Amino acid sequence: MAAKTAIRSESGKVRRVIVVGGGLGGLMTAIKLCEAGVPVDIFSLVPVKRSHSVCAQGGINASVNTKGEGDSPRIHLEETSYGGDFLANQPPIKGMTDAAPGIVYMLDRMGVPFNRTPEGLLDFRRFGGTLFHRTAFAGATTGQQLLYALDEQVRRYETVDVEDENGMAIPGEKMVRKFEFWDMLSLITDGQGVCRGIVAQDLKSMQIEAFPGDAVCLATGGPGIIFGKSTNSVINTGTAASAAYQQGACYANGEFIQVHPTAIPAADKLRLISESARGEGGRVWVPKNPKEARRGRDVPESERDYFLERRYPGYGTLVPRDIASRELFLACFHEGRGVFTSRTGKNENEVYLDLTHIPKPTLKRKLAGILEIYEKFVGEDPYENPMRVFPAVHYSMGGLWVDFERSADGGLVHGSPRNQATNIPGLYAAGEVDYQYHGANRLGANSLLSCIWGGMAAGPAIASYRKGMGKSAYDCSSSLFDGAKKREQDKYDAILKMDGAENPFELHGELAQHMLIDVTIERHNDRLDKVLAAIDTLEERSRKVNVLDTSSRMNQSAQFVRHLQNMIVLARVIAQGARNRDESRGAHFKPAFKERDDANWLRTTMAMHADGANGNSAVNYVREVSYNLNGQQVNVSDAVDVSLVKPRPRKYETAGAASATAADDKKAAPATAST
Ligand code: FUM
Repeated sequence: MAAKTAIRSESGKVRRVIVVGGGLGGLMTAIKLCEAGVPVDIFSLVPVKRSHSVCAQGGINASVNTKGEGDSPRIHLEETSYGGDFLANQPPIKGMTDAAPGIVYMLDRMGVPFNRTPEGLLDFRRFGGTLFHRTAFAGATTGQQLLYALDEQVRRYETVDVEDENGMAIPGEKMVRKFEFWDMLSLITDGQGVCRGIVAQDLKSMQIEAFPGDAVCLATGGPGIIFGKSTNSVINTGTAASAAYQQGACYANGEFIQVHPTAIPAADKLRLISESARGEGGRVWVPKNPKEARRGRDVPESERDYFLERRYPGYGTLVPRDIASRELFLACFHEGRGVFTSRTGKNENEVYLDLTHIPKPTLKRKLAGILEIYEKFVGEDPYENPMRVFPAVHYSMGGLWVDFERSADGGLVHGSPRNQATNIPGLYAAGEVDYQYHGANRLGANSLLSCIWGGMAAGPAIASYRKGMGKSAYDCSSSLFDGAKKREQDKYDAILKMDGAENPFELHGELAQHMLIDVTIERHNDRLDKVLAAIDTLEERSRKVNVLDTSSRMNQSAQFVRHLQNMIVLARVIAQGARNRDESRGAHFKPAFKERDDANWLRTTMAMHADGANGNSAVNYVREVSYNLNGQQVNVSDAVDVSLVKPRPRKYETAGAASATAADDKKAAPATAST
């Protein structure tokens, strides 16, 4: 049975697509679907304007080359591949970097208040892993400005009527319906394994409902909360991705977790101090004397060690994040040269990030957002004092495995239903939740770009899939949805009855400690074995927790028990992937295997969920995934498509190694402040 029309199912219902997540990836997917005439339901854990995209600070990359430096989308592609240590498929990167200038101009037209040069052109700043000024920015609150711009576009669609095949408005049906404060619990898959919708919970009434959707796109962000405090928002537990993984979605390159070099601590989370501080000329240093007792601003120039500039004369403080974070970690942890505090008599895990040499008006114009954050949470004036910062978990390069279709010119076939498709037919993913664009290490300011581009690729892909599908989800038997709802209701009721001795929040604390200490900057196999054993125990203990709160409304504790269980499952994928990969590549660094090993490991880690011992989860690593898309069988292996930029060793120590072109080598010069 085919659907009646593009708009209505056989049974006369309006055929919608579900987007889970209201950040840049989700909103862009929704916009593209609406442009294609497809009505959308958006589900979000929080008001969409508080999605984690709002926290992004420094900017969005696009090789617009307004400064006449010779930058181009081709070089952006090369540097993204190189920065990612060649683990990302290059056709999707090419699609993204080719589209980037158009994306920035589109955002500009939408009203994003990008900083401009005195001539009125868009201004661009430097970011890590490149020597070009490639990053468009709105002060240091770029994510917020982009999110609000896309939110405005989506709000417009909330007022637009869905029209039937004759162009007549369908009463009560708008192009976008928003469900804020809803938590996705699971996918609904039919007997053929096709995704037909989701089960979600209203976090105010705690009511559980099943929602049909002709396709589902997850744009739910990363899983940083697995590591406890990080730069992520508290909603970033990875719960939806974990649920999809447990239902058969492949999770790829989970072991690649990015640690951002510069953040500040606070009671609730770690706050980012953007890479743009270094892009604008900020300098990183530690005192030469490890017992230096003077305040940072009183330490003379000659007594400072600008260790990043010293070791990486070309890129200076703007080496890619995997390298910068390792260097900061080395200086503090291994060399004991972190900032000394007389009060404690200790070298703290802190280095100086110094902006005090840059004129105040320039700082205000370009970085006020982060300097306010620093002043508020540290209580010190960063215009007058070098800031004290340390690395923090920031981003997951890994995520749900998604496909792509390569075009003849090496980019993407626009609108192919394979783009951004997971291996569960009808399930798509876009944004940080997918693994596609950043390989082993993401370059700064490529995340806002990949979120928006991911949505631009996913929207048309889903529209094509929906066009080619046979039966609409809205024509599936109601028993499919009733059964899925009952399954989740039973699970939730069981959580409410949990009265064991374990405290779920304490279990999370234990998980986070293991992950933070042993599965971030440095990884050792003996330690990873211990983490995996601890995860086994934690998974067992998570079934013996006390729910702590049984209230029938706004029960955050019961919700947290579910998220905890899902975090533990994903933690295993991350730690086991790290244990298996005996090499060093990008953010994955094993001192016992210092070199990149392309012969054995230039391949995507593909994890499939399996049942393990004692009711625990296990991971089954595969070399190929197969799925059926509208009647066509698709088989994809773990080989990485490196057809556009030949893999070669990364050598950021020698200036200008980032580009495969000789031209880049000529550009290498010490970073200078742009004012
Ligand atoms: O440092 C930053 O502003 C972060 C940017 C990013 O993660 O892309």
